[in-house]
Amino acid sequence: MEVLRPPMGFNTWNTFGAEINESVIKETADAMVDKGLLDAGYEYLVIDDCWSKKKRDKETGKIVPAPDKFPNGMNAVSDYVHSKGLKFGMYSCAGTRTCADYPGSYDHEFLDAETFAEYGADYLKYDFCYKPHKADGAQLYRKMGMALRACGRDIVYSACNWGSDEVEKWIRSAGAHLYRSTGDINDQFESYRDIAVSQFEKLAYSGNGCFNDPDMLTVDMHGQGNVANGGCTDIEYKTEFALWCMYSAPLMLGCDVRKISDSALKLVTNKTLIRINQDIEARPPFSDRQEGLKANDRTTIFKLLSDNQIAVMCVNFADGERTASVMMDNCGIPASSGYGLHMVDAFTGEDLGVQKEFFEVRLQAHDSAVYLCDIAK
Ligand code: GAL
Repeated sequence: MEVLRPPMGFNTWNTFGAEINESVIKETADAMVDKGLLDAGYEYLVIDDCWSKKKRDKETGKIVPAPDKFPNGMNAVSDYVHSKGLKFGMYSCAGTRTCADYPGSYDHEFLDAETFAEYGADYLKYDFCYKPHKADGAQLYRKMGMALRACGRDIVYSACNWGSDEVEKWIRSAGAHLYRSTGDINDQFESYRDIAVSQFEKLAYSGNGCFNDPDMLTVDMHGQGNVANGGCTDIEYKTEFALWCMYSAPLMLGCDVRKISDSALKLVTNKTLIRINQDIEARPPFSDRQEGLKANDRTTIFKLLSDNQIAVMCVNFADGERTASVMMDNCGIPASSGYGLHMVDAFTGEDLGVQKEFFEVRLQAHDSAVYLCDIAK
C-alpha cells in the first residue's frame, strides 16, 4: 500500500499505558470525531501495548484480547472505530514478549499478521523488546513486512526499534511506512527538544512511503498520564507541534483527546501547520546553522514545499528571550536578486508582506514562530 503522507492519529500509550479497555477506545473514537480531529486528518486510532492476555491460545497459537479489557473481542472495537469513519491500529513486538511483557510476534509473524487482518486492523505498531540475541533486528522487521504484505489487508507498518542499528539506512527496504528513530518521548521540554536535535540531520532519509517517526506527541498532556514527566507549557507544546510539522513527522496525538483543551485543539488542527506537515514532497528542512538545531540557542529552519511555497520556522531553545532572524540569503535568496519572502504567520494568520534581505522576530524562551511563504518581489 502507498503511504505518501505522514500518518495522523492517536495512540493510547502516552496517556493510558496499560489502562486501556473497550470504553476508553470507544470514547476516544467519539471524541476524535466530535472535536473535529478526524476532519483535520487524524484518522488512525491505535491501541498500544497491554491489550492481550499474558499467554497465547494453546490450541490456535493466536494472541487473544484480554477479556477484562476487551470483553467483546477486538472486532467489536474495530467495528466501532470503523463505524465512526476512523481507521483502527494494533500493536505487537518483534521479540518474544512485548515491552510490557505480553506475547510478542517472534516466530509467529505470519499468524499474527493474519490475526490483525481478521481484526480489521489498518495499522500495526511493531516494537523491539525481548529480541533473542541470535536474531537480526533488520531481518525481524523484514519478516513482519512480508507477513503484512501477505495478510490480504492494507496495513500501515509502523516500526519501532527506537533508532537502533542505524534503522534509517535499512527500514525503508523492509517495507515499513514509518519508523521510530529515538528512545521514548516523555512529557517534558528537554525530551522533545533532544529528540528534535538528534533527528535533524537524519531527515534526509525520511520521505514519501517511509517516514522518520520522532514518537507520539505529548501536546496537552500537562504532566498527566503514563509518560508524564512534569509537563510542558502551552508555548512549549506549540514548539513541539510545529517542529513535528516541519519534520514531516507522523502526527500521533498522545494526550487524552476526550478532555483536550480548546487551545491545544486549535493548535493541532491548525490548517497551515498541517499543510506543512502533509506536504506531498516531504522534503527535509535545512538550517541556518552548520550544526542543524542548536539545543540552547535560537535557530531558523527552512522547508521547501510543493506549489513553490516555503515554510520557515524560528525556534528558541534557549532559557531566555532571543531575537531570531530570517536571513533571506540563508534560504537561497540573495538581496541582489530583488526577491524576498512574502510571509504569513502560521499561528495568527497575519500577513507580513514581502520581507527582503532580513527579518527579525523576538521569541520568549522555548517559543517559536512559523511562516508560510511565497517567493516574491
Ligand atoms: C516502547 C515503545 C513505546 C511503547 C512501549 C509499550 O518500547 O517505544 O512507544 O509502545 O514500548 O510497552
